[in-house]
Amino acid sequence: MASFSRDHRQFASRRANIRRRFSRLGFLAAVFFLVLFHLHSSPHPSRPARRDIHFRPSGFDWTTVRQHHPVPNAHELPTGPTKVLGRVQHDFSNYKHDATTQKRQEAVRAAFVKSWNSYMQHAWLRDELAPVTGDGKTTFGGWAATLVDALDTLWIMDLHEDFYLAAAAAVQLDWTNTTDTSVNLFETTIRHLGGLLSAYDLSGEQALLEKATELGNMIYMAFDTPNRLPGFWLNFDNAKQGRQVAGINDPSASPCSLSLEFTRLAQLTGEDKFYDAISRVTDFLERSQNKSALPGMWPKTIDFRDEGLNERGFTLGALADSLYEYLPKMAVLLGGRDPRYERMHLSAMEVVVEHLLFRPMLPDGEQHHDILFAGDAYVHPDSRIDRNPEGQHLSCFTGGMFALGGRLFDNPAHVAIGERLARGCAWAYEAFPTGLMPEIFGIVACPTIDKACPWDEDVWKKHGDKTLKKGFSNARDPRYILRPEAIESLFILYRITGKEELRDIAWRMFQSIMRSTETILANSAIADVTVQGGTTKLDEMESFWLAETLKYFYLIFSPPDLISLDEYVLNTEAHPFRRPK
Ligand SMILES: *[C@@H]1O[C@H](CO)[C@@H](O)[C@H](O)[C@H]1NC(C)=O
Ligand SMILES: *[C@@H]1O[C@H](CO)[C@@H](O)[C@H](O)[C@H]1NC(C)=O
Repeated sequence: MASFSRDHRQFASRRANIRRRFSRLGFLAAVFFLVLFHLHSSPHPSRPARRDIHFRPSGFDWTTVRQHHPVPNAHELPTGPTKVLGRVQHDFSNYKHDATTQKRQEAVRAAFVKSWNSYMQHAWLRDELAPVTGDGKTTFGGWAATLVDALDTLWIMDLHEDFYLAAAAAVQLDWTNTTDTSVNLFETTIRHLGGLLSAYDLSGEQALLEKATELGNMIYMAFDTPNRLPGFWLNFDNAKQGRQVAGINDPSASPCSLSLEFTRLAQLTGEDKFYDAISRVTDFLERSQNKSALPGMWPKTIDFRDEGLNERGFTLGALADSLYEYLPKMAVLLGGRDPRYERMHLSAMEVVVEHLLFRPMLPDGEQHHDILFAGDAYVHPDSRIDRNPEGQHLSCFTGGMFALGGRLFDNPAHVAIGERLARGCAWAYEAFPTGLMPEIFGIVACPTIDKACPWDEDVWKKHGDKTLKKGFSNARDPRYILRPEAIESLFILYRITGKEELRDIAWRMFQSIMRSTETILANSAIADVTVQGGTTKLDEMESFWLAETLKYFYLIFSPPDLISLDEYVLNTEAHPFRRPK
């Protein structure tokens, strides 16, 4: 999964001061109180005797608020014959679920159950569990983000009793029950709306679709601006009074990766207004694609109010990532009925291959690693392009994106690039003593991505960081925060190529994550992947740990017909939506 905003959010919202560090003493004290806390009763939910989940409407009905900037005629979901897209998954007809794989699958499930149980025990209905102290946190409006985000994983892992327990709570959520005056449009769409929609797609429980529709009606209000492009925040008062405008310096991924969720909602409800909302964003993407400083790509931030693309920085990582991720995935969800998504994807990827991909310079003996990383580019006013070989965990989703697009649009070269990118992130995990990749790091790059370059000690001395493995120039942000993008790409590549060895890589990755992040209660973000020995826990467990990271690990070790990529397309929070037949 990918998402810009996990970075953007850190300055955009109130989360920056959550991080705490514990002295050894403080940590022991925390453990002591935790044990005490465990012994006393806590608001543990009671389990439902049977499967009855009842939709309860929120305290406010947003369909009663008029559109101040109505559309003259709504764009309708495209109809007509579907275009045949390439088959995604490898032919697994001889697949056998062997004992080793089954053990790995069970180990992942056990990790999920542990974190989920602690969430239920200590943070029920809160947005997040603090995995060291056992506190609950409010990070996304107070609408049980972890619970809603984990619904479909519960279903996929056959934890049906807990699924119904959580679903029964989810359909009672009240969107007016918040102390916030605004909601983060992007995060609420990918986590809450995406989570409810996929839980419905998997279980068929009508109440989940009703809750999703109610939320959809609220966040649809964000599109009520003069040019129908939404801002970053949906402010409730402004929405009621018709005072909303698009942002002048917003992350490009924010308005431009709501399309899968709103399209699925339109398909399931038959309400065209949801599709209309995002189709106008797609129109904007189409008319602006060649107008940036790097034609074919959209910059990191955009002036959506005046449609200005003046920002000169380009990336597949933070701020822009899922804009690109959603182009091929929209082709899938629409059954190929709108050819613009394929076109935009292919022109963007041409530029990416030319300017944003890097191959690390590696010492002799390592040069057989045919790997790539996605970095950044900056275009100067005189058109000179600076290429910045900086990797980010967030951009590790690109391996999966290239490979998926390569299969859908019959482009084997893109599948190969996808595999090299996925292997690049896996290699970076194993390059650090914890077995984990830093959030942001630099590499010393070869001049081209086509072939390995000879090791150059002088270049290394000038740019490399001697404390890190040869190939790296820095570990600028050394945290690992339980992100999913590396395993996401390995999972997609496994399903596409059927190469069993990718599962071994995934297993090593899983073991490293457990070794370095596990706490008494669950798993925690860590401060520094470059340390030997014990790691410093940051007491953070974002909802994507249960929604994405553990789901992808579980799926790569599951029989490949579980959430087949020929039947489902996953949103950027790993929520599977059913593809049209
Ligand atoms: C409001 O949300 C909190 C959790 O953030 C929950 O404990 C409480 O029960 C909710 N109240 C209602 C009326 O839904
Ligand atoms: C952008 O330019 C490329 C190359 O000139 C062209 O193939 C493509 O159709 C253009 N895209 C749009 C959306 O106009």
